[in-house]
Amino acid sequence: MEQKLNEISLQAGREIITAATQEELRQIQVRYLGKKGEITTILRGMGQLAPEQRPLVGSLANRVRDELSEMIDSRTEELKEVLRRQRMAEQRVDVTLPGRPVNIGYRHPLSIIMEQIAEIFLGLGFTIAEGPEIESDYYNFEALNLPQDHPAREMQDSFYIRPDILLRTHTSPVQVRTMEKTAPQAPVRIIAPGKVYRRDDDATHSPMFHQVEGLVIDRNISLSDLKGTLLLFAQQMFGAKQQVRLRPSFFPFTEPSAEVDMSCVMCGGGGCRVCKDSGWIEILGSGMVHPNVLAMSGYDPEEFTGYAFGMGVERIAMLKYGIDDLRQFFTNDFRMLRQFR
Ligand code: DAH
Repeated sequence: MEQKLNEISLQAGREIITAATQEELRQIQVRYLGKKGEITTILRGMGQLAPEQRPLVGSLANRVRDELSEMIDSRTEELKEVLRRQRMAEQRVDVTLPGRPVNIGYRHPLSIIMEQIAEIFLGLGFTIAEGPEIESDYYNFEALNLPQDHPAREMQDSFYIRPDILLRTHTSPVQVRTMEKTAPQAPVRIIAPGKVYRRDDDATHSPMFHQVEGLVIDRNISLSDLKGTLLLFAQQMFGAKQQVRLRPSFFPFTEPSAEVDMSCVMCGGGGCRVCKDSGWIEILGSGMVHPNVLAMSGYDPEEFTGYAFGMGVERIAMLKYGIDDLRQFFTNDFRMLRQFR
C-alpha cells in the first residue's frame, strides 16, 4: 500500500507540474483527490488493512493528499499568472506612438473679412443691425425708392418666392427696417453684414454673396462725413497709404450717389493688370440717403440727412488675399480654405 501511495504521489506530481490549463488541473484534482479519487479510495479502504498498518498508511495517505492539493494550488496560481501576462501582452498600449492628428476647423475667409470690417466700424461707434434674407418687395425695392416698374430694378435680377416676396438682392433693406424702428430718433449709425442673392453666376458673380451695408443719419451729415469714414476704413483694412475717391454714379436710394474707389492694392496706384492701369479699384456704392427714402421711413428730410454705403465682402476678401476667382470661396476646396487660419 505504501508503494502504491508513493507511485500515485510521483505520477500525480508529474501530471500537476506539466498541466497546461486550469481545466487539466481540475481533472487531476478529481482523479486523485475527488470523492471517487484514488487517494480518497485508499483512505476509505483503511478498514480492510491490518490494524498495525493503519496509522502508517493513514498518515502517508494524508501527507500525499495534502502535498498534492498544495501542488495543485500553486500550479493554479502559476497558470493564472501566465494567463494574466498573456493578456497584458495582448492588450499592451504603446504610449510612445505618435497620436492621430485631430482636424480642427478653420474660419472661412469671408467670415474673417466680415469680422475685420465689423471691427473697424464698431471702433467708429457703429452698431450691427440685421434683417431677414427672405424679404418683401416693399423693403427690398419699394421703400428704397425703387417702385414697381422702375428700370433700376433690372440691375438686380432676383429670386422670387412670390410676386411680393424674394431673396433680398442687397443688404439695403436693413436700412429701412432700422430707420422704421428708430425714427424719429437720431443718430442712426449701423452696419448690416449678411448674405444677398442675385440671378448671376460667373467668375465674378455668385448667386449668393455677402455685403456690408452702412447707414448714418443725423442732423448735418454731409458727403465729407461719408468720405472721411470710408478713407479711414480703407486705411485700416488695407494700410495707411490708401486713398479713396468718389465717382459720380446713380442709385435710386441715394442722391447724390457715388462709387467709391481706393488706390489699387496690387500696384499702389501706379497702374497694373488688376486695376486695368487706372491705379484705382472700386470697392463700394454709396451716397446721401434720398429724401424720399428718409420720408418713407419716418424721418423729416428737412431736418435730417444721412449717408449710406454698401460693399461687397467677396470683393474686399479677394483684394485682401489676392484671390482671383470669386468661385474659390464656394467650392469648399480644403487646400484653399485651410490657408486662412
Ligand atoms: N445696394 C447697392 C447694391 O447692392 C449698393 C449700395 C449703393 C448700397 C449705395 C448703399 C448705397 O447703401 O448708398 O448694388
